Amino acid sequence: MAATQLHLFEVATKTYHQTVSFPSRAVDIGDVTFLDGQKEPVHRWFRLTPSYSPALVRFLIEHLDCNRTTLILDPFLGKGTTLIETKRHGLPAVGIELNPLLKLAAEYALTWEVNGAELEAFVRSQLARIRAAIAQHHQKSLEEVVASYGLRLPAIHNVFRWWRPEVLKDLLLVRREVFSIEEVAYRQLFWLALAACALDCANVHRNHPTITFDDDHTRQIDVLRDFEAKIRRMTDDLCDLALSSADFGQTSVILGNSVHLADYVSQVDRVITSPPYPNRFSYVHTTRPQLFFMEIFNAAHQSADLDCQAIGGTWGRATSELYAAHLEPEAAIASILQPLSLELRQRSQLMHNYAIKYFNMLYAHIESLRKVVRRPFRGAYVVGNSRLSGVEVHTDVLLARMFEQCGFKVDEILILRKRGGRKKLFETAVCISL
Ligand SMILES: C[S@@+](CC[C@H](N)C(=O)[O-])C[C@H]1O[C@@H](n2cnc3c(N)ncnc32)[C@H](O)[C@@H]1O
Repeated sequence: MAATQLHLFEVATKTYHQTVSFPSRAVDIGDVTFLDGQKEPVHRWFRLTPSYSPALVRFLIEHLDCNRTTLILDPFLGKGTTLIETKRHGLPAVGIELNPLLKLAAEYALTWEVNGAELEAFVRSQLARIRAAIAQHHQKSLEEVVASYGLRLPAIHNVFRWWRPEVLKDLLLVRREVFSIEEVAYRQLFWLALAACALDCANVHRNHPTITFDDDHTRQIDVLRDFEAKIRRMTDDLCDLALSSADFGQTSVILGNSVHLADYVSQVDRVITSPPYPNRFSYVHTTRPQLFFMEIFNAAHQSADLDCQAIGGTWGRATSELYAAHLEPEAAIASILQPLSLELRQRSQLMHNYAIKYFNMLYAHIESLRKVVRRPFRGAYVVGNSRLSGVEVHTDVLLARMFEQCGFKVDEILILRKRGGRKKLFETAVCISL
């Protein structure tokens, strides 16, 4: 860590110790954001800006004393950072994710049981087919290609604002080839590269945490080059993994809602996870281009429906519904949420409802966790504090109190890194046991 950053971190930590009543301490494991993962094998295959770093997962695996007999759960799996690490460490784990695009991205990123030499040969021949398909249609328009193969344009609103017609034409030609691959493992790997490519080739700001259009860009977009680079990187990583001869852990990835854990898992020994933060970030909104391009969704209402079920940020219809709702904290956590509820209600009905829905759903998740854990249980929830309508939301402290309310012991709150240079914003891990 640079000296100024270290100073900020120390100051922040001191302030923090004064504000929380739980045991807390700072641990310096460097940047815990997604950026670190972009430099690591497998993690770099798919980009999700709110994901956490592989180094943080490695730290938590040790900190929580995980071993080959402990079943680890990540109930908010995202793109699978936790399971990629547990698999590498030979540890059994289950991941649950609500968003079908992210569920598939995580599942396919765990497709490691391939033969390196056979994969290389397959990639060579498949890329040659894709290159030929694109060359063959070079002079044709998007409409001609769509008509000649009976293809469908992504059912997303304003499709040409997302992709230029010539870019979309190439993406659709690649998709046609990828969807027709018969070998399941290879199709999954190519699918993952294409899903990542679809966003990287869209007219959006790519380094932004949330999605915004980049209407005036002059960026050269070359679908084939981008796709080939991704597939080659994946092939390199898989060949290295095959050489490592490691004993990989068992993993399973489930599409589900972690407010109802008992529907999917039992006998969980550890949790390593990062739920959404109360910061207005909508995972459905940011994955929309891929959900529609990969034909997971074919009707516009599907993304709004999913957004209504998710914990955390909303957009569009889900936000309108939230605005109109009359929400109160659940009875069991009313005293924990009351000060926040009173303060937010005076400032903004929407932010009030947003925060109350967020914590009510997290509490429902904690109650469902209580039913599926096996003692001695330990867990770590990585969260960030937020500011809503000028009101500080101490997510970690509220979460810790909710865990206590449900019978868990809060061992400590680890302070990981101060985010964004703004005072009093922290990334912390709430460590619990039973
Ligand atoms: C902070 S992200 C997790 C990122 C993950 N740690 C990674 O490194 O990729 C939180 C995830 O929770 C998911 N989510 C939101 N509500 C959910 C629910 N009710 N059940 C399961 N997953 C949910 C979101 O779709 C999102 O992928």
